[in-house]
Amino acid sequence: MGITAPRGTKDIFPEDTVKWQYLENLTKKIFSSYNYKEIRTPIFEETALFQRGIGETTDIVEKEMYTFEDKGGRSITLRPEGTASVVRAFLENKIYGQAQPTKYFYIGSMFRYERPQAGRYREFHQLGAEVLGADNPAIDAEIISLGIHLLEELGLKDLELHLNSVGCPKCRKVYREKLMEYFKPYLEDLCSDCQDRYERNPLRILDCKADRDKEFMSTAPKIYEELCEECETHFANVKKHLDLLGIDYILDANLVRGLDYYTKTAFEVIYKGLGAQDTIFGGGRYDGLAQEVGGKDIPGIGFAMGMERILLTIEEQGIELPIDDSIDLFITTIGERAEEEAFKYLAKLRKADLKVEMDYLGRSVKSQMKTADRNNANYSIILGEDELDKGVATIRNMKSGEQVEIKLENLVEEMTKRID
Ligand code: HAM
Repeated sequence: MGITAPRGTKDIFPEDTVKWQYLENLTKKIFSSYNYKEIRTPIFEETALFQRGIGETTDIVEKEMYTFEDKGGRSITLRPEGTASVVRAFLENKIYGQAQPTKYFYIGSMFRYERPQAGRYREFHQLGAEVLGADNPAIDAEIISLGIHLLEELGLKDLELHLNSVGCPKCRKVYREKLMEYFKPYLEDLCSDCQDRYERNPLRILDCKADRDKEFMSTAPKIYEELCEECETHFANVKKHLDLLGIDYILDANLVRGLDYYTKTAFEVIYKGLGAQDTIFGGGRYDGLAQEVGGKDIPGIGFAMGMERILLTIEEQGIELPIDDSIDLFITTIGERAEEEAFKYLAKLRKADLKVEMDYLGRSVKSQMKTADRNNANYSIILGEDELDKGVATIRNMKSGEQVEIKLENLVEEMTKRID
C-alpha cells in the first residue's frame, strides 16, 4: 500500500463524525449556559511559549513536542495543549483591560509525540475551558462542575473526580524539600526516570506510573497537609463549593499533573474502564502562568478533555447517542425523463431545507430502494412515465409502510408538512 496516515493519527469517517458533531454541539450548548465563549488560537506557536508555560522539565517539553524551524528560521511548535495559547492571546490582546473574569472554551487538535496506544494518539482533540481574571474558589468549583455536567449529559457513568491542591511556589518549596528528604532512602528503589526527576521535579515522582504502587508511595508527605494559610483556605473553600453542588471527590495527594504551571487546585476525572489511559479530563489553577508568559499577574483556572477518550467511554459504556442521520426523502426514478424531473425536484426540496437524495448510477428500481434504506430515508417516492403523465406520485412512509397519493406539483409542500 502507498502512503498511509502518520502513526498516531486517525481519519474520521461520517459514521463517526456524527458523534463528534454531537459532542461538539452539546459542548457549545452547555458551555454557553455557563457563559463561556469560544476562542480559536493558532495551531502552532513560538516554541518558547510552551517551554516557558508548560515547563522545561516536563515530559511534554522534553520529549513530546512537534518542533521545527520554519522557512524564516523561527522555532515553531504544533500546540501540545491549549492553555498556554489562550493565556498568550489574552495578554497579547490586552483582554485584561476589559471587565473580568473572562471565560473561554475551545475545541481542536493538539499534538504530542507519544507512544500511540488505546486512548493515546499523536494528533488528538481536546475540548477545554479556561477562566482568567478570577481567583475566587467558587470558580474552581464551577469549572469542575462544568466538565462533569457535560459528561453526565452524555450519559457517562462511574466517573471519579480526584482532587488535590499543589499549593503555590511558597508552600511548594517547603514541601519539595520535605519530599526529597522522604524519598532519599528510597532513591535506589525508584525507576530510572524518577531518579532523574528527584533533583529536577520531585513532585512528579508521586504520579509516576512505574512507581506509584510501591509501598513507600502511600506514606509520602501529602502536599495538601503542607499548604500555606492562603492555599489552605482556598482549598477548603473549593471543597465547600463542591459540597454545595453535591459533587463527590476523592482527595488524591499524589495527583500532581504533568504540566508545571499549576498552583493550588488540581483535578482529574477518571473512568477506570478505559485502562492505562483513564483520565478523561484534567486541569487546575495556574495563577503564575500569565506572569511566566507575559509578565502580568492574572489568575487562571481551566481543564481540557480528551475527546477521543470521551467517545471511547461512550462506546465502552454502550451509550447510544441520540443521533439522527436519516434523510427525509429518497426519489426512485424509472427512465430518463423521470430522472431529469427528479433532478429538478431535488433542487427545490433542498432549497426548502429538506434532506433528499436520488440515484445517479442508473440502478434498477429494486437496488434504488435498497439505496433508500441504506440512506435511512424516512419517505420515498417512485417517479416513472405514468406518474409524470398523471402529475401524481405516491409518498411512502418507510417506517409504517403507509402510502399517500399526492399531486406532484405539491411535492415540496407535502414533504415539508410531514417533516415539521
Ligand atoms: P493534560 O492532562 O495534558 O492537560 O490533557 C488533558 C486531557 O487531554 C487528558 O486528560 C486526556 O484526556 C487528553 N490527552 C492528553 N494527551 C493525549 C493523547 N496523547 N492522546 C489522547 N488524549 C490525550 C492539559 O492539556 C491542560 N492544558 C489542561 C488544562 C486546561 N489545565 C488548565 N486548563
